[in-house]
Amino acid sequence: TESPNINDPVTERNLQKAAKIITQAGGLVGFPTETVYGLGGSAINDESTANIFKAKNRPSDNPLIVHISSMNQLERIITANTNNPSKAKIPEIYKPLIEKFWPGPVSILIPIDTSINDKNNPYVLSKNVTNNLDTVAIRFPSDPVARSLIALSDTPIAAPSANTSTKPSPTMASHVYHDLKGKIPLILDGGNCNIGLESTVINGLVSPPTLLRPGGLSIKEIKKVPGFENLVTELNIKKDSNEPVRTPGMKYKHYSPNAMVYLIINTKPEQNIFKSEAIGKLINANETSKSALVSELGFGQFKESDNLILRELGTTVKDIQFNMFRLLREMDQLSVKRILLIVNNSTLEDEDGLAIINRLGKAASEKVYI
Ligand code: TXA
Ligand code: MG
Repeated sequence: TESPNINDPVTERNLQKAAKIITQAGGLVGFPTETVYGLGGSAINDESTANIFKAKNRPSDNPLIVHISSMNQLERIITANTNNPSKAKIPEIYKPLIEKFWPGPVSILIPIDTSINDKNNPYVLSKNVTNNLDTVAIRFPSDPVARSLIALSDTPIAAPSANTSTKPSPTMASHVYHDLKGKIPLILDGGNCNIGLESTVINGLVSPPTLLRPGGLSIKEIKKVPGFENLVTELNIKKDSNEPVRTPGMKYKHYSPNAMVYLIINTKPEQNIFKSEAIGKLINANETSKSALVSELGFGQFKESDNLILRELGTTVKDIQFNMFRLLREMDQLSVKRILLIVNNSTLEDEDGLAIINRLGKAASEKVYI
């Protein structure tokens, strides 16, 4: 495979080139969306979808999200992947959600028949997309580059986040290049992703509807939509329990930089967390290797030095979401060995903070409440 430039700017020519790659069997492209960068391939081609799993080193039982750029494409997907024509409709429950938030950072589960094998219908999804589940996650991104790519290729695009499996999701083209250079021929560089965190994944096919992954669209917003008022948001899926795994992606190690990550949660707003023994110990444990404070709460008495990196995580949910993956990746670049992520309990208690605790909680090997 030809290696991409670190920066293939979004020009008409590069978009055409990318769309052409998508329409070729096996062809993959890195592209921006409003959430994170995607690793895109044709959702209706087995070679392309197989290559996505290979390039990311992704377990095959973690299904892909299919990206569309028009409602007509959704209708075509439903029709082509449903045996019974009378059932081939957009589920009613989703209509107000779609109306309000598409295009945008929310993905929805749509029923499909796994037995379909109609070689004559070009919209039959590759079996690799869902790994034989009877649902497929569909997303209509708002990012103009993503939409142009889907529309130009005239193909639904299967796209996981464009990182190597287990690594933090990419929010800049350089992150994609770092993980996938030599494995894909083109990365469209659309700059920073506005949101910086993946789409919210919703299952409206069960009653009440459930949240499968907190993400770019806030839970508070979703709960305002008729039919979603009682959205179930518990994500307490334990890795080695007998509970069924509700969304396959939740059971894997995720978002992890090379460094040891500690998520430090300040439970008492009045205390100076930086004077605590726990932080003192972690920072001084080994002065010959690099540590980092990535903090919502300033840095107290700590000053930056050769072995101590200080970075502001942000102070609003939106800022933290925007910054977190980029900062985790930067710490790897700086060869930091130990990252202390310092957040306020109130950020995490805010329902909108669920996506942050979910991602940072997975990135961290330890949570420390102070
Ligand atoms: O914002 C996003 O959604 C990004 C950009 C590129 O659009 N894509 C993304 O894809 O985050 P990925 O593959 O990294 O995450 C897909 C998530 C996983 O947690 C997966 O388990 C879940 O969606 N998922 C996909 N299809 C599913 C299905 N049929 N049932 C349950 N969960 C599903
Ligand atoms: Mg991902």
